[in-house]
Formats: sequence, structure tokens, C-alpha cells
Amino acid sequence: RDARLMPIRGTTRLAGVIGWPVKHSRSPLLHNHWCAHYAIDGAYVPLAVRPDDLGTALKGLCAAGFAGVNLTIPHKEAALSLMDRMDRSAERAGAVNTVVFAADGETVGLCSDGTGFVANLDAHGVSPKGRVLVLGAGGAARAVVAALLDRGCEVTITNRTAARAIELREALDAHDTLPWDAWPEALGDFDLLVNTTSLGMDGHGNAVFDLGQASSGLSVADIVYVPRQTPLLAAAEARGLRGVNGLGMLAHQAVIGFEAWFGVRPDVDAATMALLDADL
Ligand code: ATR
Repeated sequence: RDARLMPIRGTTRLAGVIGWPVKHSRSPLLHNHWCAHYAIDGAYVPLAVRPDDLGTALKGLCAAGFAGVNLTIPHKEAALSLMDRMDRSAERAGAVNTVVFAADGETVGLCSDGTGFVANLDAHGVSPKGRVLVLGAGGAARAVVAALLDRGCEVTITNRTAARAIELREALDAHDTLPWDAWPEALGDFDLLVNTTSLGMDGHGNAVFDLGQASSGLSVADIVYVPRQTPLLAAAEARGLRGVNGLGMLAHQAVIGFEAWFGVRPDVDAATMALLDADL
């Protein structure tokens, strides 16, 4: 943030991201870049809030006149019970990542993770369609599966812990589940493979993905973005398959909050992506 270009005044509209910890968040970089780019009198700050203090923090920020906040780990699910209202995206995702403090003082919860994921695929020319295999059944998987179903995809879920895959399929009325050790053999039946697990993330050990049975038209998406070239995307590239990493999802999910708080729909352009990429 260049304070010479972006002074905080008495009129500055405020938003932020609540996490615990929050120091890894790239959201302040992104939102303050957009404020500067669109000459908006706004600022976006990191807010480190302990899990037990989320309700108090939301009330306080609302009372202090904040326009809203993003929520990140570990607050997204806990926020569900703290909202006055929720839209369908939060209900389907079972999580809130964007809070708008409405003019009437009510807290409105949204979840833009799934729409951000799909928008990022669209931006890469990988329109999600047909049969999709989702690896994982955690919080991230739920938002992604919900958005893929909304786009009319036929979604199959596979997860190391089978019971969680079945639970997620039932919660969202997805199409099918597969045993975890069976997915590599079944890959030929799918148009899109999505990794929502932490497999391949830096610091989470080695991950090996067997894409030997993939059809040549398979597209591969990873929500992981550290490293840029994840083990899954490396395996996809080795087979000549189209791959998309998760960095763009981060940018696209931020669009919805920014527009709600600051009144401008920001463009996820090359400069936005370069900014995030440079911070990796
Ligand atoms: P998030 O909210 O980020 O999705 P999560 O709810 O902890 O986080 O989910 C992590 C996902 O990664 C789960 O699907 C998890 O599988 P389990 O449900 O079996 O735990 C998956 N995962 C994590 N480490 C894994 C590993 N080594 N092999 C396979 N799946 C793994």
C-alpha cells in the first residue's frame, strides 16, 4: 500500500479479513490494490481474531462502521450460526467467507469460494461441464461441489475417509461417490478432475497422482497454489492435459466482497494475477 496514493481519511470505507492466524492472507494485498486501481476511498486490513472471539469481533466491527469482512480459517463454518441472514451460496457451502454489514445493522453471510472456483476455470477457458471427479470432502470440497452442481455438472466425490464423501454427496445431492483407491482406474469416465485436498501443498509431504487412465480431453484443476506447479498439475502437464491452479480462485472469490463493500466490480486482470503471483 502506497500511503501517498491512498491516504486513510475520515471518510475511508473499511473492510478486512478475519483469521487466526491471518498473517498469511493475501486478501489485504488484493483489495488494497483494487482500491488504488479504481481510486476508491477504501482500505482493507488484516484482523487476527481468536476462534472464541468471532461473535464479539463481528459485532464490534459492525458497530464501528465497517462495510464488511472476509472470513478465513478457522472461522468460516463457525460464522454460520452468527449471521442474521445468509444467501443460498453460504447455505449450500455450509460456510461463510464474506460478511456484509447491512444498513439495518444486520450481518449477511455469503460464500464466494465456489463461484470463485468456477469463475477461475471460466477465465482459463476450462468451462466446467459434463462429468466431474472431486478429490476430497472437506470444507473446500463442499463449496466447489455446490458450485459445480449449480453449473449443471454431474459430480462424483472421492475421499480418503469414505464416510465424509457419502455425507457430502447426500448433503448436496451430488451424483455419486467412488472409493479413494478406485479413482485412478475410473478416471477415463471424467471430463474434469478437481483436487480440493491438501495433497501436494507445500509442507504436506509428497503426493503422487496417477493420471494414467485419463482421456486426452480431461481438464485438471487444483485449488492448491503453493507451489504454483502442484504435483497434480505436473502430472497433468506430463500427459499434455490442461491444468489450472488455485491462485485465480483466490482472486475471483474476492470480487464478490469487494463489489458488495466498495460498489465496484473489480476485474481479475493480468496485473491482479501478477500481484498475487509475485507474493507467492
Ligand atoms: P478444507 O476445509 O481445506 O477442505 P479439511 O476439511 O480438513 O480442509 O479437508 C481436508 C481434505 O483433504 C479432506 O478431504 C482430507 O481427507 P479426509 O477426509 O480423509 O481427512 C483430505 N486429505 C488431507 N490429507 C490427505 C492425504 N494425505 N491423503 C488423502 N486425502 C487427504
